[in-house]
Amino acid sequence: MSAAPNPQTIALTGGAGMMATLLRPYLADAGHTVRLLDLAEAAAPGPNESVHVGSVADPVFMTGALKGATAVVHLGGLHREKAWADLVATNITGTQVTLEAARINGVGRVLLASSTHAVGFHPTEAAAQDAVLIPRPDTYYGVSKAAVEALGSLYADKYGMKVVSARIGTGGERPGNVRTLGSWLSPADSYRLVEATLNDLGAPGHHVVWAVSANTRGWASLEAGRCIGFEPVDDAEAFAEGVDTAAQDSWAGLLGGFWASEGHKVGMDNYPELAGK
Ligand SMILES: NC(=O)c1ccc[n+]([C@@H]2O[C@H](COP(=O)([O-])OP(=O)(O)OC[C@H]3O[C@@H](n4cnc5c(N)ncnc54)[C@H](O)[C@@H]3O)[C@@H](O)[C@H]2O)c1
Repeated sequence: MSAAPNPQTIALTGGAGMMATLLRPYLADAGHTVRLLDLAEAAAPGPNESVHVGSVADPVFMTGALKGATAVVHLGGLHREKAWADLVATNITGTQVTLEAARINGVGRVLLASSTHAVGFHPTEAAAQDAVLIPRPDTYYGVSKAAVEALGSLYADKYGMKVVSARIGTGGERPGNVRTLGSWLSPADSYRLVEATLNDLGAPGHHVVWAVSANTRGWASLEAGRCIGFEPVDDAEAFAEGVDTAAQDSWAGLLGGFWASEGHKVGMDNYPELAGK
């Protein structure tokens, strides 16, 4: 990955989390300055990184942390089904506070972490036919991500920002099962999506894109991403040997998979061991 043409000061919320940790080396290599915002202290900051401990739902913390920043990558939040009140407080209010802090500080580029679960009740094949599916959430978590997208739309239209709502398939270092051979987003492709958020294509505006790699078994249209210059390169198939490909994905019919099934209860902290299914 070569240095970015235009190094930025990026506030990375959820900076101590899994996806942020995998993204950080790419941002550092590109020469960006990165502020790691999280409830937890992000580990081992490099020379162009700083650690900021606080909540994305705290307006004072967020307004201060975004002072002088040029972009926000908003990954901070709850990443699976929880009680309604928790998802509202962290995912919805946390996104509103983040966008408002961006507006106050004149930050014009924001990448928001949405999810497949915002559209989880659509049949899987619909994702290839329609580049931007309307929300059809499979959980309260999915509802919170649909609200994240709606907030992104509001701030882009009202205040002239470029906001990208990324329907992330499955993050991680490598795909771990048959389902994720289709839904994987590689760390390098997550970096490519950040660069697509920073460029001027489609600015100002709100863009809902699939955040998945160029997977041989992929089911998602990459068209909306291409409109902002997001061209994923990696392919989960490179890791297929390590995956039991004979196993069937028994929840393959709907985008949300297991999350859209009867067994996955709305509002409950569902079976963490199945969270990646
Ligand atoms: N990992 C995936 O496969 C996947 C798929 C779709 C969407 N996403 C979304 O991407 C984002 C990152 O996911 P992840 O897998 O890295 O999750 P993660 O849980 O590893 O990271 C999220 C981070 O957010 C922080 N956080 C939680 N509440 C916070 C608050 N109030 N203020 C500040 N920080 C807070 C946590 O401490 C954590 O470090 C999440 O928004 C998630 O919903 C992830």
